[in-house]
Amino acid sequence: MSQVPGPKGLPLLGSALALRRDLLGTYERARAEFGDIVRLTAGPMTLYNVFHPDHVQHVLATNAANYRKDNQANEDIAALFGNGLLTSQDETWRGQRRIVQPIFTRNRVAAATEDMALESHRLVSRWFTSDTVDLNREMVTYAMRVVGRILFGADVDEAAAVCTDTFPVLGEYVRRRGMSPRPLPRHWPTPANRRAARARARLVGVADELVRRRRLDSSGDLLSLLLTASDPETGDRFDDVQVRDQVLVFLLAGHDTTATTLTFTLYLLARHPEVQEAVHGEVSAVLSGRLPESGDIPKLVNTAAAVKEAMRLYPPAYFVGRLTPAGDEIGGYAIPAGGTVLTSPWVTHRHPAFWDAPSAFRPERFAPDAEVGRHRYSYFPFGGGPRACIGMQFALTEAVVAVATIVQRYRLGPVRSKPSLATGITLRPAGPVLCGLSAR
Ligand code: HEM
Repeated sequence: MSQVPGPKGLPLLGSALALRRDLLGTYERARAEFGDIVRLTAGPMTLYNVFHPDHVQHVLATNAANYRKDNQANEDIAALFGNGLLTSQDETWRGQRRIVQPIFTRNRVAAATEDMALESHRLVSRWFTSDTVDLNREMVTYAMRVVGRILFGADVDEAAAVCTDTFPVLGEYVRRRGMSPRPLPRHWPTPANRRAARARARLVGVADELVRRRRLDSSGDLLSLLLTASDPETGDRFDDVQVRDQVLVFLLAGHDTTATTLTFTLYLLARHPEVQEAVHGEVSAVLSGRLPESGDIPKLVNTAAAVKEAMRLYPPAYFVGRLTPAGDEIGGYAIPAGGTVLTSPWVTHRHPAFWDAPSAFRPERFAPDAEVGRHRYSYFPFGGGPRACIGMQFALTEAVVAVATIVQRYRLGPVRSKPSLATGITLRPAGPVLCGLSAR
């Protein structure tokens, strides 16, 4: 078997500087220059990157049993956010998934549509006096309030403020450590470790407060389920720390990703007035001026297509990483035992063999007919295989509801400049995304 090709990089550092300076560009160039499987080094760390959909499928789905989530980023996320569903493994993960799954069924998500619509309505009502909004801030607030209302049964404005402050700090911390040749032990009192520990302590305070309030008054939301449910196979229940860890994970996984998706969908609609008008036409025809309900969601196909195309261009989970304890063979190349393997929605979603004019915003790629025959893993914003996103339906419904409600009331645009990107735990805009608004 051959060695995986890749750039030589600088002595000792490899590609560490290039990755730190321009992570996404370095990856795109690596695929263009070396092909579908590329080895990148950063100091002592070696990353095996697979870009072809067949290989992505192999790692995430077909041969998932040969892969684990033991990489540096996952370890750092677990240290900061606890051992919840996103980071746990083996029996612990299986038990957690069995307990949490019932809250994310199609029916449960459909039943939450009305609450999502109420939050969207609240959002657009606040905009009546504005002619410009920061899409990024507004969408973080919306997504946080949706998670708060539906999963935690709580008004989360205070928690939202803490998340808005702390997530960028923690994201940057994980990114730097992930790309650092030798990350220092987390317990050393370096400025970065102390900053992260302070941010974590504030988040834990928020999660504990959500749990404390919920214990006093329970209903059918996720948090009540976490507090009372038991594993149908073993009868085990979550203890206090486990409940808190799940809350932290849902705060992390459940709001930032959807907020980024919405920010970029609205940004792209503002940049493409003809697409925006098509979405508006559909929304007017389906909703006739009222708020969206669950039965409307399957009919809002253009709206959903715009959301999906925005996630192709700006996938919030831009890498999905694994480790192969035993080693593997991928596409005729040897991956050594203990090798870190990265799949990248960012790169595969731009792969020229699978996407025409990859950088163009063309929602018609996601018209129902157009999706037939496409490789399942040429597009994987929600990952795949056993560890695929549990919140996919929730996120898509939440995004379609918000876009429909916004476009129904407002014409979006202009936007002044292309947002620059921050590559932390998730991909997100690096700063405000200012967008003009006019009432329809
Ligand atoms: C557009 C929005 C979202 C995107 C792009 C996204 C993406 C992803 C991806 C790629 C994974 C797989 C990670 C891996 O395999 O290592 C994942 C897992 C997960 N996501 Fe999402 N997600 C989104 C929204 C949500 C929402 C709304 C929730 C919860 C309310 C959520 C909860 C989770 C959880 C708990 C996992 C771990 C599942 C497991 O390992 O069993 N996500 N997500």
